[in-house]
Amino acid sequence: MCGIVGYVGFRSAPEFLLEGLRRLEYRGYDSAGIAIQNNGEIGIRKRKGQVKELSQLVTANPLDGTTGIGHTRWATHGETTDLNSHPHVGGNGEIVIVHNGVIENYAKLKEQLQTIGYVFRTTTDSEVIAHMVCHKWLEQIKLGGDPDSSETCLKAVEASLNEFKGTYGIGVLFREFTNLLIAARVGSPMVIGVGKDEYFLASDASPLVGYTDEVIYLSDNELAVMRPEGLELHHRDSGKQQPSIHVLDQVANDLDLGHYDHYMLKEIFEQPEALENCMRGRIDDDAATAKFGGLDLDPQQLRQVDRVVLTACGTSWHAGLVGEYLLEEFARMPTEVEYASELRYRNPPMTQNTMVFAITQSGETADTLAALRECKRKGHQSLAICNVVGSTIARESDGGIFLHAGPEIGVASTKAFTSQVTALTLLAIHLGRLRGLSYPAGTRMLSRLRDMPAVMEQTLRCHEQVQAVADKYYGFDNFLYLGRLYNFPAALEGALKLKEISYIHAEGYPAAEMKHGPIALVDEKTPSVFVIPKGGIYPKVMSNLEEVKARKGPVIAIACEGDTRVKEMADDVIYVPEVDDFLQPMVTSVPLQLLAYHIALLRGCNVDRPRNLAKSVTVE
Ligand code: G6P
Repeated sequence: MCGIVGYVGFRSAPEFLLEGLRRLEYRGYDSAGIAIQNNGEIGIRKRKGQVKELSQLVTANPLDGTTGIGHTRWATHGETTDLNSHPHVGGNGEIVIVHNGVIENYAKLKEQLQTIGYVFRTTTDSEVIAHMVCHKWLEQIKLGGDPDSSETCLKAVEASLNEFKGTYGIGVLFREFTNLLIAARVGSPMVIGVGKDEYFLASDASPLVGYTDEVIYLSDNELAVMRPEGLELHHRDSGKQQPSIHVLDQVANDLDLGHYDHYMLKEIFEQPEALENCMRGRIDDDAATAKFGGLDLDPQQLRQVDRVVLTACGTSWHAGLVGEYLLEEFARMPTEVEYASELRYRNPPMTQNTMVFAITQSGETADTLAALRECKRKGHQSLAICNVVGSTIARESDGGIFLHAGPEIGVASTKAFTSQVTALTLLAIHLGRLRGLSYPAGTRMLSRLRDMPAVMEQTLRCHEQVQAVADKYYGFDNFLYLGRLYNFPAALEGALKLKEISYIHAEGYPAAEMKHGPIALVDEKTPSVFVIPKGGIYPKVMSNLEEVKARKGPVIAIACEGDTRVKEMADDVIYVPEVDDFLQPMVTSVPLQLLAYHIALLRGCNVDRPRNLAKSVTVE
């Protein structure tokens, strides 16, 4: 949520910053801005709208310099206006900052700073940071600090942090200091790219790709002082730190659109490969089980686990729901799925041997991180199912499973969902084999799972059928998504996709539960999307479908190839390959993703950057 970039070195800072902001734009696109320090001045260009509009502004009014910061905003406090765009100025222009996060006590601090003469120009919480750093810097100088020393600047930032409550990742420029950039974080992610005589700052690693592959992940309460000649890392409690450098394995073309019009479509079509990557090296045929390098638990410890809690937000929560069904059916493991935003403040009874998994694509979702920390604090084994290597959750968890799905840029999650379900299926097999799942059953499940990349390729052939359905239904304003058992989470996820990118009201429900309320919504203008593949419960879902038809509700069915009965009942059918029940959500999600995509396109919506949303939600 909000993207930050920074640069200090020898290159043209505006160039790196604008390119970096383009790559971070999925984190927020309400407004964008950059600030460049040069010769005792800081020039700022910022405006409401997307990075391409900022680029036009910079082309019309260029900035020159080799030190700078940039920001792309997802508004929390204050409307989306040019003025509220970052960077923000402190004092009389001595300090300029960018901020990702929320300063919860900003109102009180603002009042204090106003009393001593600071003039606020915006309605954001972030402006308080700029003035506070300025105030503390002037205070340091009054106390005898050397105004020409970066040490004084560091102390000013550190003293300011002591005043703030909330979360932040910040980048700070000082007008009087050429070649100085200070960064700090509590809660919001920050990565530093290490170059030769240059440093890069970013909210995640994507802006650094192509510039450097050496990175430092800033931890909470750490500050970095960056100058072309070197970097110093400080911890607010323990002082100077030795930076630990990690090597990035992302490559530049991972971020290309290729021949696709949108990242979402590209990522939908990458699912066969993503599933393949998620399974690679994790199938142990001899033992008919799945294996994980990162779980860090021996079979003895795993056998003692008596309960699993899966915690997540959004799409990842839906994957968790599939995980609950899998773990309970195949590992006989009592499992709870918790919204991370609830779990972090709830206090559910958890046995000592409860194992917690935070499921997250980004590894940065603030609520998921807080829930993980809360569970760790209580002494539970707290693991992660995560896509982004090096993310905060990946680093703070006690171990876990990486998805290896590759970067997911489209705000609406697609390949991360099916990869999460794949990882959870492997986990269910792994735990199941420790707890009574037989050798032949393990072998059979693994063999079916191994077929999934090919099955997903086949599933993607439904694309044209989906386009035709989208053409027919894109004008409707309400949809119901209905499915049972493994396809209930798929229905929830299908409805979420439509809401997110088409701005159409859609509700996901267990198909049979519909009679207890949503059926009142059914009429000629409310289509129901039935997820009704072949399987044990098919006749039951068919009865639910007939109940909708009896009330003149249009029905779109997601059904198995060769199902002629459903064709007689439904208005439209999208066919997908037949698979075992436990694999159905992967397959049935594909047409639902494509349906949302095409309806959004036909309604003229921005598919990759839906309004009000952000890919990585780093505020609570
Ligand atoms: C945001 C995104 C969703 C995502 C959710 C959880 O709302 O728009 O696509 O599912 O955050 O994100 P995570 O990175 O934790 O999976």
